[in-house]
Amino acid sequence: MSEQAGGDPLFQSHDPIFNRKELLHVGHVPEEDRIVGRDDEIQSVAAEVGAITRGDPPNNVMIYGKTGTGKSLISRHVATRAQDAARSNDIDCGVLYVDCSEANTETRATRQLALSLKEETGYEEHIPLRGVGTMEYYQHIWGILQQCFDAIVVILDEIDKLDNSNILMQLSRAREAQKTDAYIGVIGISNKIQYRETLDERIDSSFGHRELFFHPYDASQLREIMRNREDAFQPSVLEDGTIELCAALAAKKHGDARKAIEILKEAGELARRTDSKLVAEDHIQQAQEVAEINRIEELTSGATVHAKLALYALASRIITGDRETYKTREIFERYVSICELVANDPITENGLYRQLKEQAFLGVIESEKTGGGRSQGSYLLHRLVTDPKHIVKAVRRDSSLEDLPTYDHLVERSNELQNRDADLSTFS
Ligand SMILES: Nc1ncnc2c1ncn2[C@@H]1O[C@H](COP(=O)(O)OP(=O)(O)OP(=O)(O)O)[C@@H](O)[C@H]1O
Ligand SMILES: [Mg+2]
Repeated sequence: MSEQAGGDPLFQSHDPIFNRKELLHVGHVPEEDRIVGRDDEIQSVAAEVGAITRGDPPNNVMIYGKTGTGKSLISRHVATRAQDAARSNDIDCGVLYVDCSEANTETRATRQLALSLKEETGYEEHIPLRGVGTMEYYQHIWGILQQCFDAIVVILDEIDKLDNSNILMQLSRAREAQKTDAYIGVIGISNKIQYRETLDERIDSSFGHRELFFHPYDASQLREIMRNREDAFQPSVLEDGTIELCAALAAKKHGDARKAIEILKEAGELARRTDSKLVAEDHIQQAQEVAEINRIEELTSGATVHAKLALYALASRIITGDRETYKTREIFERYVSICELVANDPITENGLYRQLKEQAFLGVIESEKTGGGRSQGSYLLHRLVTDPKHIVKAVRRDSSLEDLPTYDHLVERSNELQNRDADLSTFS
């Protein structure tokens, strides 16, 4: 298609690697026949909301799962199919989607619901954008539901970002409280499993609901997801085994479909930049490294400089030493010499320990208590969850830390750094 595009020859160049690159864009929502590997989850969600299609009351459902496991995609997919099925039974069913990471207060969420309903139905009353409270938005919502719908599915995505969960109570009690006759089914989505606890306290009985858990994708599911978008590439530019490798790497790290697709796209871009005619395993390996560094950078982006230096200290000990795990004291010693390198005043050992604990919480490191018996006391051993090379790169992306030694540099200066640690230990 690109070759025939008429007009200015400047824009007619043929892309040797990509055919329909948009299939690999982050925001791209795949069509129905490109959704694979989630049949059981589709069935489970359908079982909860499906009653709507027969004119019966649906169940509310909460979907939990890590990022990139298809929660948003599957919810929208099932809700839309339920809507179509309901309509073919002469039931007026609506679907509303709210991204609660943006509409993160009850007022914003209800305003969005009211405005989407108005847009869908041609409701005539004016809905003010500001200056009114939540109750007024609820009035409009009930009014429109009453006038125009038999049933509605409300998807509240990233629901843990909402400042309170009153909206769940309002939606689930609306019929009982005689606000509307329409059946309302809520699909709540969260990647924070802890959200359950806050939920239980607040709205326990009124939002009776089922819970579903979406698990990370395994290698064969990721392979299917990517195979189904192979036509993003020109025919036969993907070398045999590339998709398999990409799936295996992504499954091992996180099982996140979004990340797997990103790696595939990045690999294609790498191939194109280097004028390669094929996308090969080597491109996937490199793309995976870039993706992993981005992931670490995302995880640590909110961390303090000292937390980053602490991570760097642990990474550099692993690179220059012969072990995978180090004690807090050993990391602290390296941290002090690194602070010297970048002319930064070090914090105390205890302060550093707290920084490490926070990183353990984020999942960048793992800390394990090891005991030398009652008399010797126990101590913590820390390890990195990812390749130390990636930590070095991610930390050096912070502009105030770009003067830190690179990975290669660290390897070269191995002896020098170890001697410094030894010096520090003799003083402590
Ligand atoms: N089963 C699947 N089939 C095809 N593509 C999928 C599938 N699951 C996920 N994807 C792709 O991965 C992207 C991410 O999926 P989705 O947005 O549903 O994840 P999520 O679980 O909602 O993640 P988050 O918690 O980060 O919001 C989708 O836009 C889609 O492109
Ligand atoms: Mg999502």
